[in-house]
Amino acid sequence: MNLAELNKVAEAMVARGRGILAADESSGTIKKRFDALGVESTPDNRRDYREMLFRSAEAMSKYISGVILYDETIRQTAKDGTPLVKLIEKAGSIPGIKVDKGTKPLPFCPGEVVTEGLDGLRERLVEYRGLGVKFAKWRAVIDIAGGPVPSYTCIRTNTHALARYAALCQDEGIVPIVEPEVLMDGDHDIERCYQVTEMVLKIQFEELYFQRVALEGMVLKPNMVVPGKKSGKRVSVEEVAEKTLRALKACVPAAVPGIAFLSGGQSDEDATAHLDAMNRMGPLPWRLTFSYGRALQHAPQKAWSGKSENVAAAQRAFNHRAMMNGLAATGQWKADLERKAA
Ligand code: 13P
Repeated sequence: MNLAELNKVAEAMVARGRGILAADESSGTIKKRFDALGVESTPDNRRDYREMLFRSAEAMSKYISGVILYDETIRQTAKDGTPLVKLIEKAGSIPGIKVDKGTKPLPFCPGEVVTEGLDGLRERLVEYRGLGVKFAKWRAVIDIAGGPVPSYTCIRTNTHALARYAALCQDEGIVPIVEPEVLMDGDHDIERCYQVTEMVLKIQFEELYFQRVALEGMVLKPNMVVPGKKSGKRVSVEEVAEKTLRALKACVPAAVPGIAFLSGGQSDEDATAHLDAMNRMGPLPWRLTFSYGRALQHAPQKAWSGKSENVAAAQRAFNHRAMMNGLAATGQWKADLERKAA
């Protein structure tokens, strides 16, 4: 393992004022997004949509440090024949890849899931590295929606798999994004989200230690500490920022170069405002930035709606969200910048 090289890539992924575009929706997930727009989910439409994002020059060159791709996308070429990976590199961004194989029911733990994909992972990493990938992502899902969940079995099993994935990545010269996501689904309050997030992160870093993962060569991708979507409770931006930072400070060693949040179903503006508020509460021991899927893509997806004549408008929408989140990554976002653009 060349830790200096891994550290250099990890630092670049969380470079000041830049964050990650999660464009790694599986074919099933992107179909759901396209269905909502009335767009047929064909390989060409998926390519056209993602090519539109990767050709958004302002976003990609100024605010997007890296892009997480799905297996299909990494093998696709743009309309003019350029591999999409090359488009990303030319724009000054780093290509990455989702390597988990999704979730399956966890035995004896009703309602809970485990993320699979460790078998054959080393060989897949070698292939992806050959295709230009510098980092990878694996997402574990912890559901706290009611009942006796999450179980210790679920937390332990998922964080263990994440740590084994992270060790394999580093052994193959690829920076792992470690994503143990505590879902927003459910009617729990923010305190419950805090407790579960803290427990998950504590156990996650213990598992990483046991697998000998070098913290300097990874990026953490956590959820923010928020109330459940069905709780009907609104809390202030400051409360989310304060509680999220409290959990992170209690659990994430300063050796980790950066933390890149998932958006997890928050509104676009909430995801930006929360990140901004946390960065205003610095100084912090790590870079805090975004690795958003929905909160970066929702607006451009809608503007695009599958029509080539909408590409320019969709790129404007993407450039705007990327800039807003880039500002939030340094604590310089302002709500009125959103109104001005509208
Ligand atoms: P969201 O920002 O839509 O939660 O997606 C981020 C991601 O990559 C989930 O794995």
